[in-house]
Amino acid sequence: MASSAGGYETYAFIADLYDHVSLYRDRPDIAFFVDWARSQGSPVLELGCGTGRVLIPTARAGVEIVGVDASPHMLAVCRARLREEPEAVQSRVRLVQADIRRFDLGQRFTLVTIPFRPFQHLLTVPDQLSCLDRIRDHLVDGGRLVFDVFNPWLDALVNSPIGEEVGEEEAFITPDGRRVIRRHKTVAHDRFNQVNDYELLYYVTHPDGREERLVHSFQLRYGFRFEMEHLLSRAGFVVDHLYAGYDRSAYGSTYPGELVFVARKTAG
Ligand SMILES: C[S@@+](CC[C@H](N)C(=O)[O-])C[C@H]1O[C@@H](n2cnc3c(N)ncnc32)[C@H](O)[C@@H]1O
Repeated sequence: MASSAGGYETYAFIADLYDHVSLYRDRPDIAFFVDWARSQGSPVLELGCGTGRVLIPTARAGVEIVGVDASPHMLAVCRARLREEPEAVQSRVRLVQADIRRFDLGQRFTLVTIPFRPFQHLLTVPDQLSCLDRIRDHLVDGGRLVFDVFNPWLDALVNSPIGEEVGEEEAFITPDGRRVIRRHKTVAHDRFNQVNDYELLYYVTHPDGREERLVHSFQLRYGFRFEMEHLLSRAGFVVDHLYAGYDRSAYGSTYPGELVFVARKTAG
C-alpha cells in the first residue's frame, strides 16, 4: 500500500501556511462537527485531523478526542497550537501519526469524524474499504461516522480547463510578514477511476521582496451520492442523514453542495 496523504506528508510548507488560508480559516463546518461530538460524547476519533482546525474546538467543548494524521508537519502545527491552550483542553487530546487506512489504536469511540475531505485522498476502492474497516473496528456498537466529500459538480468535471492556472484567491499575510496569493490548476482528469490531479500554487512574497512559487500537487478521488451509500453499506454502515451543507440543509436543496454523511455502525 503506497504511503500517500495528498502531499501533506511531503511538503512542510502546506502545514506552515494552512491555518492562514482564508478558505480554510472561514470554512463553516466547525460548529457542525463540534455539535456531533458533543451529542455523541467522549471519546471521539478524528481522522485526518491536520492542524487541529476542528479538533481543538472539539476539545475546547469538553470532548476527549484522538486525532490521527499521516503528516508529521500538520501534526507539528497542531501540537504547537495545543501548547497555547489551557491545560484542561490539552489533557483531552491525543495525537497519533498514522495512515487512516491501517491504524490500530486499541480503543473504541462513540464517534469517528473525517472533516474536510481526507477521505477523498483514498484513491481506490480497496483503500476506502480498508479505512472504513478500521473505522468500524474502532466504533462502539451503534457508534457514528460523520464525514464529508464534495458532491461532484458535473459541469466542472466536463468543462474545467486542463493545465490552466485559475481562481486567484484573496491574498493573505502570514504572521512573519509573507504575502501569499493562491491559485489552482487541474492537471488531469481520470474519468475512469474518478481521480483528478490538482495543483495548488502559492505565490509568496517575502518581507525582503524575494519571490517564491510553491506547488502542492495532489490527487482526489470523487464519489457520487449513491456510490458512497453503497460503499458505506458494504462496509457495515447505514446512512442516518445526508446533508448538502453544514447547516444540515437537505441533500438536493442546493447544487452541487457537499455530501455530508452521518452514518451508523450496523450490528454484527
Ligand atoms: C484538507 S486537510 C484536512 C485537515 C483537517 N481535517 C481540517 O479540517 O482542517 C487533509 C488532511 O488529511 C490528511 N490525510 C490525507 N490522507 C491521509 C491518510 N491516508 N492517512 C492519514 N492522514 C491523511 C492530510 O495529512 C491532511 O492533514
